[in-house]
Amino acid sequence: MSLINKLKSFHIEGAVSMHVPGHKNNTIGKLSDVIKPGYDLTEIPGLDDLHDPAEVLDQLNAELAQKSEGYHAQAMVNGTTNGIISSIYALNEKVTNFYIIGEAHKSVYHGISLVNAAYTVISEEELYESELASSCVIFTSPAYTGSLDKNIKQHIEYIRNNSGFSIIDAAHGAHLSITENFKESLLLAEADVVVESYHKMLPALTMASVLFTKDIHLHRRIMHYINHFETSSPSYLVLASIEYAQQFYNEYNDEIFFKKRAELIHCLKEAEIDVAEQDDPAKLMLTWKRGAYNLELSFRKTGIYSEMVTDAGVLWCLPLWHEGDSYPFKELLHKISKLTPAVSSEGTVKDIDILEGKICVANIVPYPPGVPLVLKGAAITERDLKRVKHYQVNHVKIEGIQYNINYYMNEAEL
Ligand SMILES: Cc1ncc(COP(=O)(O)O)c(C=O)c1O
Repeated sequence: MSLINKLKSFHIEGAVSMHVPGHKNNTIGKLSDVIKPGYDLTEIPGLDDLHDPAEVLDQLNAELAQKSEGYHAQAMVNGTTNGIISSIYALNEKVTNFYIIGEAHKSVYHGISLVNAAYTVISEEELYESELASSCVIFTSPAYTGSLDKNIKQHIEYIRNNSGFSIIDAAHGAHLSITENFKESLLLAEADVVVESYHKMLPALTMASVLFTKDIHLHRRIMHYINHFETSSPSYLVLASIEYAQQFYNEYNDEIFFKKRAELIHCLKEAEIDVAEQDDPAKLMLTWKRGAYNLELSFRKTGIYSEMVTDAGVLWCLPLWHEGDSYPFKELLHKISKLTPAVSSEGTVKDIDILEGKICVANIVPYPPGVPLVLKGAAITERDLKRVKHYQVNHVKIEGIQYNINYYMNEAEL
């Protein structure tokens, strides 16, 4: 029972969450009021059919669709990954190629690779020089770090005027527009498809996501694929948490959030931690003079768990504090005020030089953030290997590296 014991230990230790999911160990909102093991039912009469909703789940989708006029909504229990891959399958029936703008999550590459479609990674500027008819452009906004693509509305309009389609991976943006003080929801950009992970920043269970589609025919085609890829045993707990998160979103008042946020930033600065605010007020990027990896470890040693650490800093996802939440805010400030630099050891650098110049046979992905460093089919360069070694020194998990090594070691033995 090692997993259960591990989970219990985090609970007992009183770990302070600065990471997803947005319920922050059930201290933001009160999910435990609606999430009870006894509600874990199957699709018995009265509980509707997730992939052909006509009753209570249809009602839930209708409530979700009210988030932004002109969209059809579908609650999903297998995350934004499911929505992105299903959307790529559906749009692949209409387009001949895909464009990817910015740093896309691995699910985008997985979808495109599964349908075997042609794709090009382009910049925002290159969009205006590209042939967009019969193409689909995939955006990621907000980025993991909370930065928003400021011109996305114009981009989407331009794509539509040039007979193209658009998908926005808004996995990190389900809470945007929660009040007028939070930057704009990506639903306002009017893309053909927007997918949001409700679980990341709102109080919902992990895997709770919502697909939003403009056109009903496209929505039905995406549903066709969702029906193929998503579990046929949907979790009503995850679905109930989506409804709960939507209610939370509809009723949220940000007064306490901004007060506590200002107090937190002040406390971090007192501890000589540099704070970079992001477009999304619920994201902070932190650094200090001993380096980002040391800062993350120092936080962890005091029981504060961060969302991610990269060379750019330690990423925190702030709780959506509110009247009556039970988030351990005082404890958080106390821990920061007592923060001392941790003694960090270097991670083991594996011998990966065998991969130089080889064709990558499985995407090499630092995780998090889950943005591929080397894609399958590309040549692995000395520069890529330098990056991987740098990550290994800093204990960053790299997916796919061992697979590539095994592949080429075995090939060498043949
Ligand atoms: C940008 C981005 N898109 C998509 C996903 C996948 O979302 P989900 O975990 O809801 O499947 C992630 C997960 O971290 C992500 O960072």
